[in-house]
Parts: sequence; C-alpha cells; structure tokens
Amino acid sequence: MKTKIAGIGHYVPENIVTNDDLTQFMDTTDEWIRERTGIEERRYATKHKESTTSLGAKAAKIAIDRAGIKPEEVDFIIFATLSPDYYFPGCGVLLQRELGITKSEAAALDIRNQCSGFVYGLSIADQFIKSGMYKNILLVGAEMHSMGLDFSDEGRAVTVIFGDGAGAVVLQPTDKEDQGILTTCLHSDGTHAEELAMINPGSHGGYHLGVEKFGYPDPSTPGGVFVTQKMVDDNMLSPNMTGQLVFKTAVVKFPEVIKEALDKTGLTTEDIDIFVPHQANLRISQFVQRTLKLPDEKVVNNIQKYGNTTAASIPIAMSEAWEQGRIKEGNLVCLAAFGSGFTWGSALIRW
Ligand code: ACO
Repeated sequence: MKTKIAGIGHYVPENIVTNDDLTQFMDTTDEWIRERTGIEERRYATKHKESTTSLGAKAAKIAIDRAGIKPEEVDFIIFATLSPDYYFPGCGVLLQRELGITKSEAAALDIRNQCSGFVYGLSIADQFIKSGMYKNILLVGAEMHSMGLDFSDEGRAVTVIFGDGAGAVVLQPTDKEDQGILTTCLHSDGTHAEELAMINPGSHGGYHLGVEKFGYPDPSTPGGVFVTQKMVDDNMLSPNMTGQLVFKTAVVKFPEVIKEALDKTGLTTEDIDIFVPHQANLRISQFVQRTLKLPDEKVVNNIQKYGNTTAASIPIAMSEAWEQGRIKEGNLVCLAAFGSGFTWGSALIRW
C-alpha cells in the first residue's frame, strides 16, 4: 500500500503588492529585491475578511473537489503554518469548522515546521495512510505572513521576501505499484534555532542563550512574560533572519536531502521529471538546480509572483505546475524544503 495525491489545489489572495509598492513603507528598491531574491510581487490577504484558515479552506475546497470526495469524507486534517490565526487552538480545527467536517471520527493536527512544514506533513500523512489508520487525509500549507511583518526599514530584509497564500492536497491509499509517495526524508538541527525565528511573543522568559537582545522580562515581575512592553516599544514582535547563514546552509542541505531520497529509492537526478523546491529565494533554487544539473523545464519557480509563502510554497507551486500540465501521470516529482529550525526534508512521488 502506498499513498497517492488524489487532489490538489491552491489559493492566493487577489491583492498584488509589487516591489515598488513596498517602497512607500520602507527604504528599498525593486532592483535590490529582484537581484537578491528574484521576487517581483507577492499577494497580501485582506484583514478582517481573510485569515490563514480562510486561505487554507479555499485551497482545501479545490483539492477536495478534485479528489472527487466530499468534505465530510476527510478523516484527518494536517495543517502546516507558522502564521496561525490564534496561538492556540491551531488552524486545523478552525479549518475543520469552516469546511463543515462534523463527523466524530475526524481529527486535526497542526504542525509547526515552517518552510519544511508541507514535506513533514506529507511524511506524517504517508505513515497514517500506510498503517491503514486513515483513508482521506487533507494536508494544508497556508500562511498570512503580512499580519506579522515589520514594515519599517528595520524589517526590510525579511519583509520583502514573504507573501500570503495556501495550497492543499488530499492523500489516499493506492495499491498501484507504480504510483504514490516513494519516500520522504526528514531532518532537523536546532543549533541555529534563533537565526531564522520569531522569538516574541512567546513564553521563553529569557531562558535561551542569546535571547536577551529580544527583550525578555524582568524575572521579578509576575506575569506579563508572554508579551512585554519592551518588546512592543523596541519593535521586537516580528521575525528575524541571519540571511547569509540561511543561504549558505540551504544550498548544502537541499542537494544533500534530495540525494538521500534518490539513493534510498535507487533513482538518479536524471530520473526526476519535475523538481518543486520550497520557494525560499530564486537564487537558492537556481543554485540547487545547477548543483543537480537539472534543465529549466524540470524546475518549478513561481516565487517571482508570490514571494516566499513558507509552508504554502510547495503545494502552491505543485498545484500551479499540475494545472499547467507540467505534472503528468507517471512523472517522478521531487519536493525539497529547508527552513527555520533548521528543519529540512525531501519527498519523491510517482504521480
Ligand atoms: N532593500 C534595500 N536594502 C536592503 C534591504 C532591502 N529590502 N534589506 C537589506 N538591505 C541592505 C542591508 O541593510 C545592507 O546594507 P549595508 O550594506 O548598508 O549594511 C545591504 O542591503 C546588504 O545586506 P545583507 O543582509 O548583507 O544582504 P544580502 O546580500 O545577504 O541579502 C538576503 C539579504 C536577500 C536576505 C540574503 O541573505 C539571502 O538571500 N538569504 C537567504 C535567506 C532567504 O532566502 N530566506 C528565505 C526565508 S527562509 C527560507 O525560506 C529558507
């Protein structure tokens, strides 16, 4: 028994924000952003009208429809995001409510694996399907980054990179020998956890080495640990990233984890029909493409239009490629991601 992708879909908000639009808020230029990241524009969802859950629900409805099932038939929801609507509960149950999945056997799991959330989710779903526990798993990657970014000059190196959007797949068992997920490889290393992170708000209370600079509370103050006035006053409530470390580590880990998946399955880079990398940065994807010696037609890049949508980037790119006829039955699809944690992973799927 293997796990197949029975339906796929994506949704991005209508509101397009170009690089030039961002120059109204911060000291940046279209040229700087394009040169360093390849990004030309991104989408921002509309406050009050949309949220990470609602974006995910729109993508999920398309995937469910394409799988030929009804929402009530979904047994298990896996929701990957780093920009949840609430600190708790997670978006999984909010999506369940929005889709009207009311049967008592249904369950929802939220995962917080940032850029590699979709690959981790795929691996979790694969294990549940292979064990026979579930028959219809809905895996969603969704982000509403625009709510958590710093639009001042201080935040410009991070803010220009990220966009909002969602992608979803429905996973089902298949007994066809030449179809389904062939393998998934997952890794993590917490050494550099704070180098690509949103530290506040949180309950760290100044515990971890080096977090002093993020404004931890006075230990003698009862309560008020989660968000302090200092965090608000000193603009410490947005993500931070040591860009060059992320770049240097990503370009090593991407090829390494892809090779691991190919070795495990006895395949080579020449067998890959289509490579869908996490859309971190066009320069990272181009570097990986050159390392793997893949021709342009085998690599999916859409970061130019959507920016980096973290857990949503792979399902959005894969869904678009499928809609464009670039992914066909029998194709070997290679997915790979690297991001905050650091966490990284890969998957090989026979479509
Ligand atoms: N516009 C204009 N200037 C900027 C901007 C901006 N948006 N952001 C930073 N700068 C300035 C800096 O202040 C600095 O100025 P200075 O030289 O006067 O001090 C200068 O540009 C260079 O800054 P660096 O941070 O050294 O820029 P770098 O060349 O490293 O590029 C970048 C930054 C694009 C983030 C790069 O490090 C990178 O691509 N890193 C990979 C990180 C990444 O892709 N993350 C994606 C999210 S994580 C993931 O998905 C895996």
